[in-house]
Parts: sequence; structure tokens; C-alpha cells
Amino acid sequence: MHLRDVAPSDLDRFFEIEQDADAHWRAAFGSDRLGDRAAFDDHWRRTSADPAVVRQTIVWEGSVVGYLVRFDFEGRPSVGYWIGRSYWGRGIATEALREFVRRWPERPLFAGVASDNLASIRVLEKAGFVRIRSNSSFAPARGREIEELTYRLDASARSSTAGPQRPATWAYAGSRSSPSRSPTSTGRRRSTSTPSASACSATTPASPACDGFRSPPRAVRSP
Ligand SMILES: CC(C)(COP(=O)(O)OP(=O)(O)OC[C@H]1O[C@@H](n2cnc3c(N)ncnc32)[C@H](O)[C@@H]1OP(=O)(O)O)[C@@H](O)C(=O)NCCC(=O)NCCS
Repeated sequence: MHLRDVAPSDLDRFFEIEQDADAHWRAAFGSDRLGDRAAFDDHWRRTSADPAVVRQTIVWEGSVVGYLVRFDFEGRPSVGYWIGRSYWGRGIATEALREFVRRWPERPLFAGVASDNLASIRVLEKAGFVRIRSNSSFAPARGREIEELTYRLDASARSSTAGPQRPATWAYAGSRSSPSRSPTSTGRRRSTSTPSASACSATTPASPACDGFRSPPRAVRSP
């Protein structure tokens, strides 16, 4: 497995991967426009111009099998990933996320996951992410509110964080807030939580005020 920058030619494969209805349901918070290639292309075009978004293609045995993204959602650095169904269960997402956080020193990093997306939860935990909260969020792919778990990776996490500096090719503009939580999808979301970003720090992982991704009633996110 290795990570590399996303090439325009990867997008056909990403779109194909995202058309799996079951995977779409599991990802939950992505696009509610399954099959809409124009919306997909527009979203990737817009996020490719966002310096806060890091997009990595996951290559396994010479094939493009998925992607991993780092993006800001309400100023919170977040990660998301997607692996093509035919490659599930081979440890690829785990290896990709571990490699990403080893090479990408930014902390904390956050991830949101549907509480029933057990494979993704396992991937996060194996990479050292820790669950910090649970709340109800609107899942576009399911058309209803579901339980979302927020995970956070801190500098002290037990994961392979040592390693080379961030590669120069991984464009990053710091903590600039992006209106999009979704570098890979056109999904929209709303949350029942009340934001309190200033109260969330690396030393208060269990604080109910640590709102992670919560904020405006409607925002876009991924994958
Ligand atoms: C989630 C996803 C990325 C996992 O990719 P993957 O390459 O299959 O993941 P890995 O093989 O690295 O690890 C999966 C882990 O989950 C475990 N797992 C899988 N299904 C499970 C289930 N139903 N219950 C419990 N554990 C499960 C596997 O056993 C494995 O853990 P292990 O290594 O301890 O045995 C992939 O299913 C996917 O792309 N799903 C659709 C998009 C998505 O949900 N993205 C994440 C949004 S938060």
C-alpha cells in the first residue's frame, strides 16, 4: 500500500467506488446524490482548489483502491477515507490511515463516523483515534438523524506518529476554516448539537463542550 497525490485520472475510479449503495449507507454523512457525476466532479474541482484539503490516493498492489482526505470542518482538521468494496477486509484502510497520520503531524485530528460503521470505527481505533463524544446528526445517505461518534487523535496517541516531515507535495494552509466538511462528496448535514469550539482542547477529550464538527445547521462534509 502507498499513498500518493490524487491524479485527475483517479476520479473515475473514486466515483465508481462511491456508487456502492451499501458503502454509501455505511458512510452515512456523505452525499445524498448517489449517481450524480456532475455534482461529484464539481465537488472535487472545488476542493482541489482549497489549500486546506489534502487528498491522497490509496494504491494497493498497483491499483487505485480508494482515497483518504484531510479537510477542515468548522476549523477542525478532519480525516475521511473510502476503500472500494472488493478490497475491504485486507487491512488497507488501517494501513493507509496509519501511514497518513505517521507522515502528517497535525494534531489533534478528528473523524466522525456513524455508530454502526463498525469497520471504520475499528480503523480509527487501530490508528490511535479515541472516541470523544456521541451525538445525533443528520445523515444525508439515510435521510434521517443517526448516532454519530466523534473520534480524535492527539499528539500523545499510541500510533505510528514518528516519521518524516510532511511531504512538500501535501499542500496545507494551516487552520483555515473551510465551509466544507466534504472534500469528496456533496453531502449536507445538520447537527442537533450546540457548537462550543473554544472549549475543546487536547486536554479535555471528554468535555461535552468539545464539539468537534458541530456547528451551523447545514454544512457539507465527507466522505
Ligand atoms: C470503513 C472502510 C474504509 C474499511 O476499510 P477496510 O480496508 O476494509 O478496513 P481494514 O481492513 O483496514 O480494517 C477493518 C477492520 O474492521 C473490522 N470489521 C469489519 N467489519 C466489521 C464488523 N461488522 N464488525 C466489527 N468489526 C468489523 C475488521 O475485522 C478489521 O479489523 P481487524 O483488523 O481488527 O480485524 C471501508 O469499509 C469503506 O470504505 N467503507 C465505505 C466508506 C466509509 O464507511 N468510510 C468511512 C466513513 S467514517
